[in-house]
Order: sequence, then structure tokens, then C-alpha cells
Amino acid sequence: MCGIVGYVGQKQALPILLDGLMRLEYRGYDSAGFALYSKDHFEIKRNAGPVQGLIDLTQDCGKTETQGIAHTRWATHGAPNETNAHPHRAGEIVLVHNGIIENYSQIKEYLSKEGVQFSSQTDTEVFAQLIEFRRKEIAKKNPTQSAESTLLQSMKKAIDEVEGHYAIVLMALGIPGKLFGIQNGAPLVVSKLKDGALIASDIQAIIPYHNEVCFLPKGEIFIADKDGFHAKGLKFETIDWTADKVEKNGFESFMLKEIFQQPMVVADTLTGRLPLDQKSPFMWDHQKAHEVLWKNVKRLYLVACGTSSHAAMAAKYYFERWARLDCQVDIASEFRYRDPVFEPGTVVGVISQSGETADTLAALRLANDAGASTFSICNVPNSTIARESSFQYPTKAGPEIGVASTKAFTAQLTMLCALALDVGRLRGIQQTKDSAQKSFHGLARLPQDLDQVLSQSEAFIKIGEKLKNQRIILFVGRGTMYPIALEGALKFKELTYLPAEGFAAGELKHGPIAYIDPDVSIITLAPKDEWYSKTISNLEEIRARGGHIIAIGTEGDTEIQKISNEFIGLPKSAWGTQPILSVIPLQLLAYGCAKALGRNIDKPRNLAKSVTVE
Ligand code: AGP
Ligand code: GLU
Repeated sequence: MCGIVGYVGQKQALPILLDGLMRLEYRGYDSAGFALYSKDHFEIKRNAGPVQGLIDLTQDCGKTETQGIAHTRWATHGAPNETNAHPHRAGEIVLVHNGIIENYSQIKEYLSKEGVQFSSQTDTEVFAQLIEFRRKEIAKKNPTQSAESTLLQSMKKAIDEVEGHYAIVLMALGIPGKLFGIQNGAPLVVSKLKDGALIASDIQAIIPYHNEVCFLPKGEIFIADKDGFHAKGLKFETIDWTADKVEKNGFESFMLKEIFQQPMVVADTLTGRLPLDQKSPFMWDHQKAHEVLWKNVKRLYLVACGTSSHAAMAAKYYFERWARLDCQVDIASEFRYRDPVFEPGTVVGVISQSGETADTLAALRLANDAGASTFSICNVPNSTIARESSFQYPTKAGPEIGVASTKAFTAQLTMLCALALDVGRLRGIQQTKDSAQKSFHGLARLPQDLDQVLSQSEAFIKIGEKLKNQRIILFVGRGTMYPIALEGALKFKELTYLPAEGFAAGELKHGPIAYIDPDVSIITLAPKDEWYSKTISNLEEIRARGGHIIAIGTEGDTEIQKISNEFIGLPKSAWGTQPILSVIPLQLLAYGCAKALGRNIDKPRNLAKSVTVE
């Protein structure tokens, strides 16, 4: 969570910092601030609320300064107000921080006893004060030592004392032209520009300036100056994302743009991978995947959070059916604190758009430490999760900026569908149901089917608008449609803040049916699949109790139209690919309702895109 930006060089720093904050705002948006190094003092501005509020305060600032740090916050410790906004000043230093200092209260108590005064409730200020406290101690002992060496020693000492996962960037008076920092479990990406050095929490803030970046290695203090970066183990690489991929391109929100990118994203994720003869293996590094993961696999754990965990749930159906593999799905925040059994032959796959989600990363590390074979399905190239897994199946959704995940989800489902088909082949499974062959074709024609679904977007948005006065919205589905129902409910609640719940259709009668009355809308996923008749019976049960039914079915289905209040018809696709089509109307229903309620589409309240805290 939170976005950090830092620049030092020959250009005016403030526009670069503010531009970076705007691009990183999806990471946190409850307050923002910056500090510029100005001759012999810091110019600091902070503001509660979104970045635009901070920009409105900057008319007369930053005309000459060429060095600064900036932050957009997702509060963990202390209310989201101006006092707690970053940067935090402690004596000679000013610091921005992403993450959590777990032992901050013990350190705060210790420093308070030593006479240090605090002005905020944040763990961040405690870290800043600790560095400053140690800096003064060291300077007293070694008065002739350079200010830079003293600062570096104090940073090292403080880093040894704090516990937690974090990234910091700081500046110190008396050391102009330099930024210092470290990533200790929260990402920092750096790039050397022609005129200086740029640091950010995410590639999005760097790509408009340069596409050669380095993901800082963990635990190494770096120094940045106008000539670039100084730290051990820096490896720069070229990222194939371009600046236009992080713009709205005429759409009124990033989310809407990302919804419409789905046909392309799915095509990109499969490009060069679908075997043309439909019999050979899929075209990833097959030999390695076979050796590392699939040759001796006995059990598969799929672990993820939020939307990515819904992709994992859908994949369970794929892996069981096509690969005849015992597949267990787990929420990362539970998996990491349980005692999962890693017998020989256990493969753990983690799924994450950002590749930085703290719980998912911890689950991956747990699996790696236990000696399990691991793979990741990540959307951000070179993210920590991608790097730390033994094998990668990257999705190619490009930067996803809307906080509510859309295109990353369809890309994950696409990859998982292809992967499960492939693992079935590797394991020599005789497919007894024709769904494997049909789903192969379904994958190949997904982009055009998605285009067809999106051509009805206006109608979906209108239905969504009408939901704004409902008391509660329920989403139900069976089989592979069950995880899609859960995803529909998650999308709806994140965007609209209305109560929304997802259920397996068969579970309705075991409790949730008590909700049903005319002020309740039930969005039912009922394509003409093998569970169709069962779902129709569930719909009848809802109708009998007066619920308002919106059915999402197969185009031309007249039977379901008779028993529903509204009907959305989708093209008939294969068993494996139908879920990928079915989530699109759910994304647009949530979008339409949120628009009608005047919600912030790209930045729903209280959320952040990249959840780097536990
Ligand atoms: C998606 O709409 C959510 N904002 C959230 O559930 C997200 O999917 C979750 O935090 C996992 O993120 P990841 O895929 O980046 O790991
Ligand atoms: N823990 C810090 C705070 O609450 C940083 C949170 C963040 O990563 O934005 O201010």
C-alpha cells in the first residue's frame, strides 16, 4: 500500500513527484505529501484527502528545487489526516514510508523516555525519530566523521532495531543532492534518467520517463544522486510496458478502460502459447515446467487473496476435471498461519495481480521453505512473488490501475484454464468429457466472444443503475459459476458499498433464502451447462418468494427469460471459458450501479490496490 516517489537530479523535482503521485494514487489515497530539499531547509506540504488536494496547494512551491520525496498514504497506524500524512520530519531528516513497523510501540516508549517528542500517531514517525536519535548519538561519538557516514550508520542501526516489512526513502539536511533508502519487504523500483535518478513504489510512475528499471534487492541501503544509484546487486532491465498503457486513453475511468481491454489482454496472455495443432503442449518453457512442477505432482495448493482467490477457486474445477489432480484452494492470510501439509509431490501455485500482496508472498515463502515446488501467476513482471517462485506463468494484462481488479482476473482465468488443460496432457489423462477439447477451442475464440459480450455494455450498465436502491444484492451460481458469483459480489461491494453476497446456488436453501423479498435482487449465473436444470429449480424457489431475478444465461434461452425479471444473454462458450465471459456483465453491473451512486470508480473508499501489509 501507499505510493512513494523520489527524484534527485537536474530537473525541477516537484512536477515529477506530483505526476508520480497521481500515477500511484491507486495504491493509497487518504492523504498525500511531499518534501523538497531547498538550500538549507525542507519545504514540506501535506494534505488529507486525494493527491489533487495536495496539488492545489502547490502554486508557489518548488520552482527551483531539484530534489524531493513524496507519498500517497493508505493509513495503517493513525487516522488519515494531515498530521499523520507523510513525509515525517524528525530533526535533520525527513522520511516517507510504505508498510508497517511492528514493534513501533516499544520503540516509541523507549524514545519517549529518552525525551523524544512525537507529533503523529504513525509507526512511520517512530522510525524517522529512531534514525534521527541514533544519528545524533553517533555524531556525538564521532564528531569528525562525515554527515553521510553518520547517517548511513544510523540507518543501519535503526534498521536492525525495527521489525516489519517496509520501504523507506529519506533526505537529510547537510547532505544535499542525495536520497537514501531501503526496501525491506515492500517494493521500490528505480530508474536512472538522463538528468537524474527516479524511485517509486511501482513501475507505473517510472514508465513515462524511462523503461529501464531495477527492482531494488531486499535489505540493501541505496544512495541516489544525479548520476544514478549506488547499492549492491542492482540489475537494470527493460520493461515492455509503454507510457500509453498507464493513461486512460479517453475512457472516463481506468476501470472502464480495463474492462474494455479484456479481449486484447486475453489474446496477449495466450499469444504464442496455444499449440496450433491442439495436441502438442502449450508453449511455455515446457521442459522446465515438467521437471520442476508436474512430473511428480500429487497435490496442488492454489493460494491467493481477494479476486485472485476467485480465479484459484475456478481453477480447482479445471484441475480436478482435466488433470485429475487433488487441488486445494486457500486464502493466503489463512494458509500462512495454518499448518499446511507439504508431502512430497506437493506443488503450490500463488496467484497475484500485483505480485506484492503481503499474505500471498508469505504463503509462497512458507511453501518454498517447506521444499514444495512453487509457481506464480503474476501480472507484474519481476514483482517479488514472480521472482521468488520456482516457475512463472505470467499474465499479460498490462498495468491495472483501477483498484477493483477486472482484466487481471480474466487474464488469470485464461492462464489457469490453459494451464490445467496442459497439465492434464502432461499427466497423460484421458479426457472422458468433451469439455477439454471444446475449451481449447473456447480459448482460441475468447477474444472475439469477449468483444461480443462487451458490445452489450450499455445494457449491462443500465441494469446496474437500477440496482442502486436494492436492500441487498445476491449473486448465485453453480460449479465454475460459483467463484464467478463470489467475484460478482466482491466487485459490487467494493464499488458501490452496498451489501452484496455470493453463494453456491445449492446453498441458498440452507440459509440465505431467508433474505429473499422484493427489495432483494438475485443475480443468477445460469448458462446452459451441465448444472442448468438444477439452477433453474433454485430460480423457481426464489421466484416463489418474490425475489427480483436478474438471470445471466445463454443467448436465446427462452425458458429462463420466463422466470426472471431481467435477462442477460451471453454467447455460448465452452465449459472452461464460459466463466471468463460471464464475469464481464458482473463487472459492468457493479460499475453502472457505482456510477449511479456517484462513487469513486477507480479509487473506492478504504481500499488500496496493492496490499503490502498483513
Ligand atoms: C480486487 O478487486 C481487490 N481489490 C482485491 O481483492 C485484490 O484482488 C487482492 O487484494 C489481491 O491482490 P493481488 O492479486 O494483487 O495479489
Ligand atoms: N504505516 C504507515 C502509516 O500508517 C504507512 C502506511 C502506508 O504504507 O501507506 O502511515
